Amino acid sequence: MEEHVLAAVVQIRSGRIEARPKRDGKLRHVIESQQFTVPLLMELFDRARGMERVVARGGSLEYQNRIMATLFYAPSTRTRLSFEAAMHRLGGRILSTEHAQAFSSEIDGEQVEDTIRIIGGYSDVIVIRHYQEGGAKRAAQVSPVPVINAGDSEGGQHPTQALLDLYTIYRERPLDGLSVAIIGELDKGRTARSLAYLLAKFERVKIFFVSPPELQMKPDILSYLDEHGVHYELEPDMNRVIGEVDVVYQTRIRPERTSGSLQQYAINSALLPKMKQDVLILHPLPRTVELDQSVDQDPRALYFRQAQNGLYVRMALLTLLLEKN
Ligand code: CP
Repeated sequence: MEEHVLAAVVQIRSGRIEARPKRDGKLRHVIESQQFTVPLLMELFDRARGMERVVARGGSLEYQNRIMATLFYAPSTRTRLSFEAAMHRLGGRILSTEHAQAFSSEIDGEQVEDTIRIIGGYSDVIVIRHYQEGGAKRAAQVSPVPVINAGDSEGGQHPTQALLDLYTIYRERPLDGLSVAIIGELDKGRTARSLAYLLAKFERVKIFFVSPPELQMKPDILSYLDEHGVHYELEPDMNRVIGEVDVVYQTRIRPERTSGSLQQYAINSALLPKMKQDVLILHPLPRTVELDQSVDQDPRALYFRQAQNGLYVRMALLTLLLEKN
């Protein structure tokens, strides 16, 4: 077993999930971005490139005896359906609850721990989106099979989104030396939070967190960046950085959460000439007013390709987990 795979293994002890070597070298659960080392990311991205070819030829039957359960307590279009498409393309089968708060026994008061113990007996991997921060971690603590966090609450994490975001950037340019503007409602931005952790793994990265001051990135992420020597700035004015960065990562801002003008943080066709010629414009989607449809035709707008990459990255991740467990 290679060192980097060992290093990314997650163990759960005393209620904490820790990234540390495990004797059998298995990658167990995917709960937060910090688990991933650079070599493991590269292994995942190599596999994702391979999955692009697998999908182009219609898929594989390699995982036909494996079952994935998707347990979504909160709405999703991309994450649930791309995980399910991923398992189908790998030849596997699916058990799915898309509205688990109403259509699982939670409605009768069942705790997520009991639900997971049961579903873990029916499946080989569980993908969960929980409405509480830490919901996926609670699931992982009792699960007999790997658990993947598909987004927990608003201020938690969405690690597989960050993996596909980073893969989309990686397909275009080197990750070392990147400057990235992460824009939006960052205090509750689980995709932004997970991406910041991943970007921190690379050399000479600069992150500009662009947000109204009351919605800025929370101290846990900023402390992590400080500890890892990552350059970042908190910036309330998008215009000061939009022309400087290699990647514009736009996320939502809900009007009811700020007293300021949302237009200050919106990307539209008027802003495009101010950006670098080769900037990458990303958004985890869904979008509303913060990203105008007039941007879609610009060749630098990659968000639909980004969503497509979710299929390849999630296929790659499933193979990593199912193979090593
Ligand atoms: N980006 C993302 O998580 O989208 P969904 O909410 O549609 O899954």
